[in-house]
Amino acid sequence: MSNNLATKDIKNLFHPATNLKVHEHGQPLILDRGDGIYVYDVEGNKYIEGLAGLWCNALGFGNEELVEAAAKQMQKYGYGSLFASKSHEPAIMLSEKLMEMSPFDDGKVFFGSSGGDANDTQYKLFTYLNNALGKPHKKKFLGRKKGYHGITVASGSMTGIPANHKLFDLPISGFFHTDTPHYYREGLDNETEAEFLDRITENLENLIIKEGADNFSAMIAEPLIGAGGVIIPPEGYFPKIQSVLEKYDIHLIDDEVICGFGRTGNCWGYETFSIKPSSMTIAKALSSGYMPISAVIVSEEIFEPIKHASGDVGVFAHGYTYSGHPVSCAVALKTLEIYERTKLFSHVSEVSIHFQNRVAKLASYDHVGEARGVGLVAGIELVKDKETKENFEPYGKIGMLLADACQKNGLIVRAIGDVIAICPPLIITESQIDELFDILETSIEEVFKKN
Ligand SMILES: Cc1ncc(COP(=O)(O)O)c(C=O)c1O
Repeated sequence: MSNNLATKDIKNLFHPATNLKVHEHGQPLILDRGDGIYVYDVEGNKYIEGLAGLWCNALGFGNEELVEAAAKQMQKYGYGSLFASKSHEPAIMLSEKLMEMSPFDDGKVFFGSSGGDANDTQYKLFTYLNNALGKPHKKKFLGRKKGYHGITVASGSMTGIPANHKLFDLPISGFFHTDTPHYYREGLDNETEAEFLDRITENLENLIIKEGADNFSAMIAEPLIGAGGVIIPPEGYFPKIQSVLEKYDIHLIDDEVICGFGRTGNCWGYETFSIKPSSMTIAKALSSGYMPISAVIVSEEIFEPIKHASGDVGVFAHGYTYSGHPVSCAVALKTLEIYERTKLFSHVSEVSIHFQNRVAKLASYDHVGEARGVGLVAGIELVKDKETKENFEPYGKIGMLLADACQKNGLIVRAIGDVIAICPPLIITESQIDELFDILETSIEEVFKKN
């Protein structure tokens, strides 16, 4: 069966984020079912889902309560839009719950289906806001090199990863990228971490001044950079850059798509990294990845001028067919109920001590340059020479070999260049953490015996 499916896959499926040329002659991994932190391919081989799908599955696979919540909502009211003042209970209840969980006393929740469409919403909201406030010059947008915010035209322009730009003619004009807060890679020889922070903060201010001190509307940042290579900012990074942003009246949009809902051991990444958001983007673990749903949460301060302007225009003419899809909202509500009932974020903060101990242990391998992480997420950066931090040539090959070896040994991870990203479902136990890292260590030993 798997050969037949593979043939059909190669013939008909246009894969996202895939080397299409290699895929044509490769063997797709065709997954069939999941149970807890494990997934099984069509041949029956078992894997630990070490990336939680795409950083999204918090509750593991086969959660019956989520299945039931979806089925019940499908039977009752399987589709409904929120356009033109129509509404339904799941969206109303979910927006109330999210406002309670948010850092804002008052505000609003705008639903979408993906992190990328939510970040396009962010861009449009802040553009609309500045037009409404009579500041039409204040439209430029800041992101960071290696930041990842999606691949739609606006969110792809916020993203600071060259492969997401090349041949797509991105970023579009008006988007700028400041430094990656990665001391290990970006710190200069003999520069302390504090000096590095001072330098990148000064670079940010210089960029703002160069492009016009009054021309930026917002900066978007992930609390930790995920898809750009699991980069943990140095202590004190966000308060420092936020003092610059505040000086120039630039809002900070907190992209919680990976960090939100417990990944770092707190509910939100902004708590772990001392961020003061004006607005937040959430997705992925909002429904534990079971249904596509995202949201933008804005404070009342942002919403009010937008509300008044929409009155003048006659409509707030932005929204998606699937904004607040009732089945997605019902599943998200159930997901949040389970997080609370099972005290999942406390579980993460407890087991992450063991997880991060195992991460730190990997630094003793000859070709592990940096083993970094927080909560239940980690990045293992492979280097040819630990002293000089020289990369293997060609960049990305050794990462792929290690990810392939892990897969052969029963662990799914993702190679981001030569950084191995690990981000298991949040329900993982200490003994399963050992199982994951034992496979990773065996795979590292196998790969470096040969290379
Ligand atoms: C931080 C962050 N923002 C936005 C996105 C885009 O989300 P989506 O792929 O649902 O459009 C991602 C996806 O990985 C992400 O990690």
